[in-house]
Amino acid sequence: MTPRRVGIASDHAGFALKSILSKHLEARGIGVVDFGPVKPERCDYPDFAHALCQSIQHNEIAEGILVCGTGIGMSMTANKHLGIRAAVVSDVFSAKATKQHNNANVLCVGERVVGSGLAEEIVDAWLD
Ligand code: RB5
Repeated sequence: MTPRRVGIASDHAGFALKSILSKHLEARGIGVVDFGPVKPERCDYPDFAHALCQSIQHNEIAEGILVCGTGIGMSMTANKHLGIRAAVVSDVFSAKATKQHNNANVLCVGERVVGSGLAEEIVDAWLD
């Protein structure tokens, strides 16, 4: 069976949480496709949202996680792409619900909104 692969991207405000969530996914045996950035310098979140969403549109990956300060900018950008259903989530119930009820293929999280422990639980609830 091909191992599951999940895309991930951020801006500078989500960089630290992107690293934490990448390690969390890898520890779960999930492949991580990192769309950047590679360093925490100030950058524009749409550039990284576009890269991840285009990869889903090209069927290279099926799902992805976008992290910025709030998750809001990432979700607004992601939802402009045909076929992308992005949800900003900051609680476990919504993480489950947006997979079950909205079939969200992109999860957006705010590093300035949720702690890393909760963010990991949100990711697990959305993935599982
Ligand atoms: C960056 O300062 C911040 O505006 C961005 O990460 C995000 O929160 C936008 O929605």
